[in-house]
Amino acid sequence: MRITVIGTGYVGAVHAACMAETGHEVLGVDIDADRIASLNAAKAPMHEPGLDDLLTRTVGSGRLRFTTSLTEAAAFAQLHFICVGTPQRPDSPAADLRHVDAVVEALAPVLRPGSLVVGKSTVPVGTAARLAARLRKTAPQAEIAWNPEFLREGSAVRDTLWPERLVVGVTSERAEEALREVYAPMLRVGVPFFCTDPSTAELVKAAANSFLATKISFINAMAEICDASGADVTTLAEAIGEDSRIGRSFLQPGLGFGGSCFPKDIRAFAARAEELGVGDAVTFLHQVDGINIRQRRRSVDLARALVGGSFAGRTVGVLGAAFKPESDDVRDSPALAVAAAIQAEGAEVRVHDPAAIDNARTAFPDLKYSLVIPEACEDADLVMHLTPWQDYAEIDPAVLAGVVRIPLLVDARNTLDVHAWQRAGWRVRALGRPRLGGASRPLVQTAGHEVPDGALLGSN
Ligand code: UDX
Repeated sequence: MRITVIGTGYVGAVHAACMAETGHEVLGVDIDADRIASLNAAKAPMHEPGLDDLLTRTVGSGRLRFTTSLTEAAAFAQLHFICVGTPQRPDSPAADLRHVDAVVEALAPVLRPGSLVVGKSTVPVGTAARLAARLRKTAPQAEIAWNPEFLREGSAVRDTLWPERLVVGVTSERAEEALREVYAPMLRVGVPFFCTDPSTAELVKAAANSFLATKISFINAMAEICDASGADVTTLAEAIGEDSRIGRSFLQPGLGFGGSCFPKDIRAFAARAEELGVGDAVTFLHQVDGINIRQRRRSVDLARALVGGSFAGRTVGVLGAAFKPESDDVRDSPALAVAAAIQAEGAEVRVHDPAAIDNARTAFPDLKYSLVIPEACEDADLVMHLTPWQDYAEIDPAVLAGVVRIPLLVDARNTLDVHAWQRAGWRVRALGRPRLGGASRPLVQTAGHEVPDGALLGSN
């Protein structure tokens, strides 16, 4: 089939390459000419495992190319995927739909008759219906469908080629057939296919992200209870996760979630529910958001307490800048929010990350960066593990102990072998694990210090 993919950010670049890999002829579209030039040279615009190889293969085979022209795209195919961003509005928690609207507005007059426009962007429920009404004015034979994307950064190629499920929201059999044909290679190997109306499809995405974010904040709330009671949240998470009704995944306690999806998606969902007059049904999402930001604050508080109540004159080595491992994305990165808050209180902060330093430098130019772990930690009074890259699990704590001034570690992601670090002479602390310090009470002190909320929100 011939298809276009409009928007070549995370979702679009990966979707375009994966669709070409499964045999379709694909034209990717973006207004960013530099990005288009680099994609045509088979260079991924972001760090994503496997994407460069996939682009090399599919661009090389001629099945995938990129353009800046929407008119060319409209002529090229009758099936168009919209993959543009839906960030948080600058002035409110709601989603900013201007990019989606602009694409539909520009496509409407040039679409070939009978075209199908399929949204993949995460949007408030009701968006597809609104866009369908818009299309009816100038392109009455065109149709809108919604097909939410569930890919995770860091495993985006795998998630797209081997999805756990496909969800499409359509208003006609013809649209369902077209989407079944697009995804035929996945359907042949038994990927569950949910064909529903566009509103349900839009809501599946909002509900899935809200549920996952809730799981993370739930376990982080338990971490705080553990801190207050002398219990251990990592054991608690494993033990409740063994219950198959609960499940082990997304119960990793720590610094909480960031990135370009969960934070803005739960806020947009709550704002949409408010508009629909059912805001009360999802007030818990405000708490999910609040608990998440609170973990950043608690990490700063713990670190401050450990260095004696003030960061002034202290050196802090930070391990991790990306919002999650295997990604160079620093949008709303909890790691950078914490690093910047600590620096704002007077510490010299040196940040290491295997992939995200360039993006981090752009977002937080005042922090110091290093591409070498021992350099970032040299003479540090405290090392903070803030993004759980595998590189950090492979650190030899005995070697790093020889580099720092004081072997003191905060494992804010609860993924390091903290007992190995302790055996190598480190004092180790972690949120939700007060007994690591030999105490049944936390070392967190907040009195006299209040990190402002704004300081913990990270960058967009
Ligand atoms: C998420 C959804 O998983 C994906 O389906 C959706 O399409 C986009 O949003 P992504 O943002 O790439 O994907 O990352 P994900 O792996 O889900 O992690 C999100 C954040 O939660 C990260 O900051 C991660 O560190 C954090 N997290 C995840 C936890 O703190 N604890 C966990 O148990 C899991």
